[in-house]
Amino acid sequence: MNNSLTVRLLEKISRMQHSEQSDKKIWGGRFTEKPSSIAEEISESISYDHQLYREDIAGSRAHARMLAAQNIITPEALQNILNGLKQIESEIEAGQMTFLASLEDIHMHIESRLTQLIGDDGKRLHTGRSRNDQVATDTHLYLKKVIKQQSDLLHSLLQCILDLAEKNRHELWAGYTHTQIAQPVRLGHWLMVWFWGFLRDARLLKLVFEETDISPLGAAAMAGANYPIDREMTAHDLGFSEVYQNSMDAVSDRDYQLSYHFFVTRLFLRTSRLCEDLILYSTAEFGYVKMGDAVTTGSSIMPQKKNPDIAELLRGKSGRVTGNFMALLVNLKSLPMTYNRDLQEDKVYLFDSVEQVNQALLGLNEILKNIQFFPEKVKLNLNRGFAQATDIADYLVKEYKLPFRETHEIAGRLVALAESQQTTLDKLSPVDIKSVVPEGIVLPADLFEVEKSPERKNGTGSVNKEAINKQILSAREKLKSMFT
Ligand code: ARG
Repeated sequence: MNNSLTVRLLEKISRMQHSEQSDKKIWGGRFTEKPSSIAEEISESISYDHQLYREDIAGSRAHARMLAAQNIITPEALQNILNGLKQIESEIEAGQMTFLASLEDIHMHIESRLTQLIGDDGKRLHTGRSRNDQVATDTHLYLKKVIKQQSDLLHSLLQCILDLAEKNRHELWAGYTHTQIAQPVRLGHWLMVWFWGFLRDARLLKLVFEETDISPLGAAAMAGANYPIDREMTAHDLGFSEVYQNSMDAVSDRDYQLSYHFFVTRLFLRTSRLCEDLILYSTAEFGYVKMGDAVTTGSSIMPQKKNPDIAELLRGKSGRVTGNFMALLVNLKSLPMTYNRDLQEDKVYLFDSVEQVNQALLGLNEILKNIQFFPEKVKLNLNRGFAQATDIADYLVKEYKLPFRETHEIAGRLVALAESQQTTLDKLSPVDIKSVVPEGIVLPADLFEVEKSPERKNGTGSVNKEAINKQILSAREKLKSMFT
């Protein structure tokens, strides 16, 4: 993909050269003066919508074939158009197309080059079409392609997380609430949190695909065309499942992009939370994980440093993509029917977010591929955080039939005692324990071992070994059925 900054520079240079081709506007009939150079700068979208050239050419091919099938253009004109489009495609691919701000957008670039190449037949291509349905068609096609690619990337990420969870499924891990130690869990369980979330994102992406899979082509400016066009034919040719049933809706709808941005934002919220956990857990204070050299960087002054920059950037980018979503929401708010030029901006937000998602999905994969876990350090902190306190309270309910509020109090006293001795619950002496529990109560030693805690948990979705095995099994099935 071309770097838009390079294109912008190229385009600035080209604008100074001012070719004859670009001075004559496609829409210039009723104008006597040229737009000012600042107007051209504001107007142009070629610096980013050049990315749509493949879709634009595909849309033009389908439109031309339909025009010929409906006897709106001759078979010879169609052949010329198809030959011309083929040449333009290879010119763009070879980097031979000069992008000019004066030619505004990718649609005008292709059309004007076509006319240069084949003459009058090039001028017939736009019969019964407007740039309003053209750009909408291009963007729908582009997003459909992107969704397919990103769905594959999500699939790989899900597989990576699931394999990692399976491999480490029974290792001890810490569960937090309020960033304070809560209860012992298992590493596989913490990893599967991300699996289930990203699986929901994959499902959401499928819904976004459905909303995107509709053809606006043939809506023309917004009222349809004055020719016997066949919208179903172009839709079928381009691989769309259906056509917009309302021409005004077709050119003004950006719901499919809003839905995509919601997907992106939700995916990035999750990404930022995962990265946050990893950043926290890789500190010397936690020491639960170590990220590989491939995804960390050093400091220019502090030789000891290994900073989690990639995770930090992915966390930071969640702000950026949320901004893109907000920008489109605000752009669309109160916009009158139907097409307004404001809508051109949609692609700025869309292209950027698409790029960020690609980076995030590949980046997370890379981070997780290189990660190391340290359950021994987790065990230390579980003890420091008195993570077995709930188990003690529950044991007294189950074995001695005491009311929970009372056993909560007793366990709390044990915690206070350990804290006052600057020790952990597993290090309390039997004499000390006896001094705070009611007469006749005996607490077995393994109740104080944090690693024994997860196995006491019951029910679907809990952290005993059997439940985790089942969870992973059901995840494998769900993953398979989602991606077949
Ligand atoms: N570059 C424009 C866009 O992206 C194409 C549509 C222009 N339509 C118009 N009526 N000026 O929205």
